[in-house]
Parts: sequence; structure tokens; C-alpha cells
Amino acid sequence: MAGFFSEELLNEIISATDIVDIVSSYVHLKRSGSSFMGCCPFHKEKTPSFHVSADKQLYHCFGCGAGGSAVQFIMNAEGLDFPDAVKFLADKVGIRIPEEGTHQNEERYHKKQQIYEMNRDAARFFRESLLSDAGKEARDYLSKRGLEGQTIAKFGIGYSLSSWDSLLKHLESKGYKRTLMVEAGLCIMNEKGHVYDRFRGRVMFPIINPSGNIIGFGGRILSGDGAKYMNSPESIVYDKGKNLFALNLAKKSERGYFILVEGYMDVISLHQAGITAAVAGCGTALTREQARLISKSPVYLCYDSDEAGIKACERAAEIFKDFGTKLKVISIPSSKDADEFIKNFGKNAFEELIDKAKTVTEHRIDLLLKGANLDDVAQKIEIMEKAAQIFAGISNAVEREVYVNQLSIKSGISVEAINSEIRKVNSKNLRREVRSEIQKTVSIQNTQAPEKKNITKRRAKSEAGLLSMMAESQKVFQSFKEHYKEESFSYDIHKKIYSLICEFYENNAGGKCSDYLSGNMQGEEKELSAVLMSVQNVDNPVLAAKDFMNVLDDEIFNEKLTKAQNEGNIEAISALLKEKKQKGGK
Ligand code: UTP
Ligand code: MN
Repeated sequence: MAGFFSEELLNEIISATDIVDIVSSYVHLKRSGSSFMGCCPFHKEKTPSFHVSADKQLYHCFGCGAGGSAVQFIMNAEGLDFPDAVKFLADKVGIRIPEEGTHQNEERYHKKQQIYEMNRDAARFFRESLLSDAGKEARDYLSKRGLEGQTIAKFGIGYSLSSWDSLLKHLESKGYKRTLMVEAGLCIMNEKGHVYDRFRGRVMFPIINPSGNIIGFGGRILSGDGAKYMNSPESIVYDKGKNLFALNLAKKSERGYFILVEGYMDVISLHQAGITAAVAGCGTALTREQARLISKSPVYLCYDSDEAGIKACERAAEIFKDFGTKLKVISIPSSKDADEFIKNFGKNAFEELIDKAKTVTEHRIDLLLKGANLDDVAQKIEIMEKAAQIFAGISNAVEREVYVNQLSIKSGISVEAINSEIRKVNSKNLRREVRSEIQKTVSIQNTQAPEKKNITKRRAKSEAGLLSMMAESQKVFQSFKEHYKEESFSYDIHKKIYSLICEFYENNAGGKCSDYLSGNMQGEEKELSAVLMSVQNVDNPVLAAKDFMNVLDDEIFNEKLTKAQNEGNIEAISALLKEKKQKGGK
């Protein structure tokens, strides 16, 4: 199927695509646990049964059975064939497809190259200006802020002169058109058509993408009135929500993780201190796209210590959760941000903050306890209830126990009381889960091939649920693999998925099981996503799998019993009943 594109290119396009982002342009999506829900664009419906999973990068409609990856979505939504859908996505994420490109693509590509070149020339000009006589105040400013010459060079930091047209003239002398300067955001055109420099009298930070192209600038004022930062506007080369400052450098860091901070200056200070894993957004709240760029490595969130920073951190934690990223939180003591902390306490102290970084749960509990008066019974109860909500989301029992103990020590609330509160929350959640599972049962059945009409809905549902839990968690697979063989599953598609899941875990294939399945089931994406998306937002995959297993075993038993009864095989009937009795007694 891939024929039109090299596998490499296809992978590049697919991994640059975020299905939630793509679907959002067509469907109003609402978060529901770790996935997103909306009304299906492929059939008429009033209550949403269309699900999109960021983690699995799949969509599935429980109403009409539509489903698959971002490519299938575009094929269906835009009525395109496979190669055109891939091209469509490539264009969205800014990847150029060689040769095949249409005329329009060519033009766009050419313009982007021109802007990159012009931005490079602008950065050189800013740099020369910084080193010139007129750049003295800016040089003093940077040295006052503790930036060394090497750092300034590494980040390509420069200075925009306090003039209305120095850059404009310079770029014009190099043959660039004014319209291009305006389009790239280096210059501004007023209503009268007059063009002038956007950045004047500011320290200039080039924003460089991982391919090494300058896509925009952030300009910091030296002193006085005016916005602290002025940033390039979005353009055909600069999508703010899809880039991170210093990602080009941090990607090459040997640290193997990322530290997400708030400001340009935080990033630069950290890099200067040898902590080369730091990246930042460029003045906008973290987007899913930005998160996705770094989500495969562990991420340390290191936001400013003010109220806004705490909120932003919580939001970021939620976003990264969708991607299953290993997350820790660094909270900065007695300084407003990472930059100030490094200046006050030095590099080693920051390394210590990294070592002592908290998990998101610990961080949340710390916030809960901060400033609370534990002698006040009402406050104590409130803390316990909120903590139980946080803990109930943790599926690993050992992990949960550790947190419960920690909270108990810190708050003086007994472990028993906290656990009983968690059970309350869990049983509420479970009841909700079961209700929604039952609702889905009917639609799941509709999406199954009609190969075996006599297979019960319960059985179909429990097989799909079990497989989906196995794909999600190796632990589930380990716990249940002894119990099932390929033949235990009644649909061919389930058999195939089961054998691929076994293959994945037994060969230690690496990566995500759902990716492995998608890669090996081309042409069957719809059926696959129906299974993988059949259960969602499960707090505890092992428990859920057990429930599915019980139902499945029950169904298998009933099937055998019916068969024995139809055959009038008394011996078989009594053997089955005996077996059941024994099991039930356990
Ligand atoms: P900060 O105010 O924390 O800036 O804003 P900073 O980078 O730490 O700079 P210093 O240390 O005060 O000099 C964090 C980020 O928010 C964006 C910038 O990306 C900045 O780095 N921002 C801030 C703007 O885009 N515009 C502003 O006016 C202020
Ligand atoms: Mn700051």
C-alpha cells in the first residue's frame, strides 16, 4: 500500500501527525479521561459515540463502526485515496513529498526556503549589530544577566537597532522583497502601505527548528516601557504551537530527557550551566503538538513558581498523560524561575532539583498540603477526599500504597481512612465504567464481521475488551496468556490480533503494542481500532481484564453446555457442571 512513498517518508509523516489535532478540524472533541469524544462525522448522531485516542493514535465510532488511523480518517473525511490522504497530512505537518509535489506545493516550498534564508541573513545582521558600537547597551544588558560570549554565540543572540528601517534596508540590499519581509514577520506594513522594522532596540533570540532553520524571533526589551517580549507572528514557516525553543539543541543533549521551562532566559541559563535538556514554549500555553514532540522521552516540568506557573504545570501534566510520557515535576524553591535559581544557587543545586524531582502525584499532594491547617477537621476531610481522587487514578497497587503511606505520615490521616476513601471513589468510577461499557456493547456487535451470527454480544465484547487490555499492558498479557490460546477467540480478527500481541511481547519488539498491531494489520485498521478502542479510560487494566475474563469463561462454558445439551451428552454435561462447581468454590 505504501508503494507511492518510501517507508521512511511514510513513517515520518505519520509520526509528525497527531490524530487529535487532525480530527479536531472536523469534529468538536471533548476530553473524556485519556481520550477524546465527539459526534461522529460519518453518520448522523446526537449523542457522541465517536472516540479518538491520543495514546493509540486511533479513532473509532461506536455508532457506525468507522475507525482507523489519521490516514483512514482523512481518506473518509476528504474522500481521498491512500496516497492523496498521506499527501494531505504531509502538507499539514509541513513535510515535502519529493517529485510527487503539486505545483502549489512547489511554490510554497520555494517560499519557505526563501524565508529561511532571509531569516538567516536577519540573524546575522542582528548579531553584527550586537557586536557594533550601537550594540553596547545590549551587550551590557546580556552580561548583567550573566550570559557568556559562548552562550550568546551558541544561541545566535543578536540585537535589533533602535531604528525604523535598518533591517529593512539591509535585507533590501540583499535583494529580498518587502512583501516577503512582511510575510515572514520581520517587518510590519501599516494601513498606508508603509513598511518598517518590527523589532527595534531589542535583544534578539532566533527560534530554530530541529532541521536548523530559523523560523522566527523573540525580542526582549532592554528596559523601559513596552511589552517585555515581542515575538514573530505565525507565518508559513512558523507555527507557534508546533515548535519549542531550543528543541534543536536539546534533541542532541546526551541527557536522554527534556526539561520544559517557561521562558527563553530559563532555557539559555540552563544550557549555559551545561543542562542542555531544556526547552520552552514561545510565549503560548503548551499545546498537544508541542508535548508530542518531546513525549517519547522522560520530561521534567519546571514552570515558574507563581500561581500561573502552577496552573500551567498542572495543564501540561494532563496533556503529557495522554501520551503516556514519563513525567516528573521540578518545583523551584525560593526563586521565581529556573534562570533566577541558577544565578542564586548554581548549577549543582539545580542538578539536585532534577534528582529530587517529584512525580506528578507527589507534586499534587504537596500542593494540597501546602498551607493547609490540619488541625481543622473540615480541611482534613477535604484533603483526604481530594487525595483519594488523585490516588484512585493510580492502577499500580504498590505505587498507590507508597503514596498513601506518604500522605498518612505527612497529614496524620490514617492509612485505613485514606484507603476506604479511595475504595469509595473507585467503586463510583467502576459503576460508571460498567454502565458505559454496557451501552457500548450493542454497537461493538454491529461492527463485528457477521461471520458467526450465533456468537453472543457478551462474548464478542469480552474478547475485544480482553485483547484491548492486553495490548495496553504487558502485565495483563503476562497474567492471562496461560489462560488463552488463539482458538479461545471466536472471530478470525480476534485470533489474528491475539497472535500478533503474543508475537509483540514475546519478541520484545519495543515501542507500543498498538503501533505494532497497526503496522501489521494494514487494510484491517477499522476492525483493529474497533477492538483497541473497545474499552477506554480504565484505571486498572488488570482488574478490567479479570472482569472480561470472567465473562468470557462464562460464555465459553455456556457454549460447551449448550452443545452438550443439544447432543444429549449427559456425561459431558455432568463433567461441565462439576468443573464449574469446583471453580466456583475457589
Ligand atoms: P517571562 O516573563 O518568565 O520571561 O515569560 P523570561 O524568559 O523568564 O525573561 P526574563 O527572565 O524576565 O528576562 C516567559 C515567556 O513568555 C513569553 C516569552 O516566550 C517568555 O520567554 N512572553 C513573556 C512573551 O511572549 N511576551 C511577554 O511580554 C512576556
Ligand atoms: Mn521568567
